[in-house]
Amino acid sequence: MKAHWFPILLFIIIAIVVTSEIISGYQKRKEEDKEFAAYLAAEPVDTVWRGWNKYQIPVWSDSGKLIWYGHELIANTSYYLGPKGTVAQITNGLNCQNCHLDGGTIPFGNNFGKVYATYPQFRSRNNGMQSIYDRVNDCFERSLNGKKMDSKTKEMQAIYSYMKWLGDDVPKGVARGGTSIMKLKYLDRAADPDKGFQVYTANCQSCHGANGEGQLNTEGTGYNYPPLWGEHSYNDGAGLYRLSSFAGFVKNNMPFGTDYHNSKLTDEEAWDVAAFVNSQPRPHKDQSADWKNIAKKPLDFPFGPYIDTFTEQQHKYGPFKAINNFNKSTK
Ligand code: HEC
Ligand code: HEC
Repeated sequence: MKAHWFPILLFIIIAIVVTSEIISGYQKRKEEDKEFAAYLAAEPVDTVWRGWNKYQIPVWSDSGKLIWYGHELIANTSYYLGPKGTVAQITNGLNCQNCHLDGGTIPFGNNFGKVYATYPQFRSRNNGMQSIYDRVNDCFERSLNGKKMDSKTKEMQAIYSYMKWLGDDVPKGVARGGTSIMKLKYLDRAADPDKGFQVYTANCQSCHGANGEGQLNTEGTGYNYPPLWGEHSYNDGAGLYRLSSFAGFVKNNMPFGTDYHNSKLTDEEAWDVAAFVNSQPRPHKDQSADWKNIAKKPLDFPFGPYIDTFTEQQHKYGPFKAINNFNKSTK
């Protein structure tokens, strides 16, 4: 009879130990939660948009596979569509991702965070409504100095699906922080290509080359370091050909590995290196059909005619403050 008490006693002891462990574990978690909440409260709130990671793409579904292909086309554009492209040969060998960093997900890294929410939209350059397909084709024809793609191709559908997936939690019409290239303050002087050359040799040349030619990968299917000027670079109708875009992009993203919390260049250096790079030769694009309404030209658009009397030289390199004041006075 006595022997029966033993397992029951053992059971009771175990039950007490387990219960007290659970209670103390619960209390510890509550303490940690409190600590975590205090930590969050102490951190400054960073409200910029950050994109999903490509590994979050739901690749098990057919629509997910199309999104994944869209990401592939953004990251490895040259492999599919470059001079040796496996699908078509319609671009200069750059990848979209060379400029739209990490699949277009990085704050102030020229990301795609407002694309799905803000297109179709009226754009003054084309003097009309533009769809996502039209905007992508602008980069094909200018930044990739290449040819348009039909919106019905699998490739365009894939790029569209990727943009939609990236932006599907952004309410219509909303542009979250960090979804445009950062606007730097205008200098008091014109941006200076000679000073920019010094910045270039010290900070950029090691990767992008002494002649801005970049460096192809060994298979020749894409660039390890993309070119910044010359026949394989973006043409003079591309966004980066405007000094403010180039300077704002580079300030927050270059040398490679820089982010907007840790800029390496000063604003001045960014403007000057923009002036140097964009004074070098590159392909020309006929832009005679652009900017039908010349009053809408951005002040650093380097091709006349203009509504003001400033020269093309000043519209390209600055000083921009005088032009800006003139623009304000006419509004
Ligand atoms: C040489 C650099 C470069 C390359 C390569 C490039 N783009 Fe762009 N792209 C830009 C710049 C600069 C802008 C304008 C950003 C701004 O004004 O804030 C832009 C804008 C865009 C926009 C509009 C973004 C918005 O928020 O309105 C889309 C969409 C886009 N690019 C898609 C692409 C796709 C797709 C590819 C590849 C086929 C590509 N781009 C390749 C530089 C580039
Ligand atoms: C450590 C190497 C490295 C250095 C140094 C560097 N870059 Fe880059 N740069 C890259 C890489 C890599 C890319 C493409 C990024 C990608 O595909 O993810 C790039 C892309 C670019 C682009 C957009 C693509 C293009 O070809 O137009 C510009 C503009 C650019 N860099 C300018 C600069 C400038 C200006 C400097 C100096 C201030 C600089 N970079 C320094 C590695 C570098």
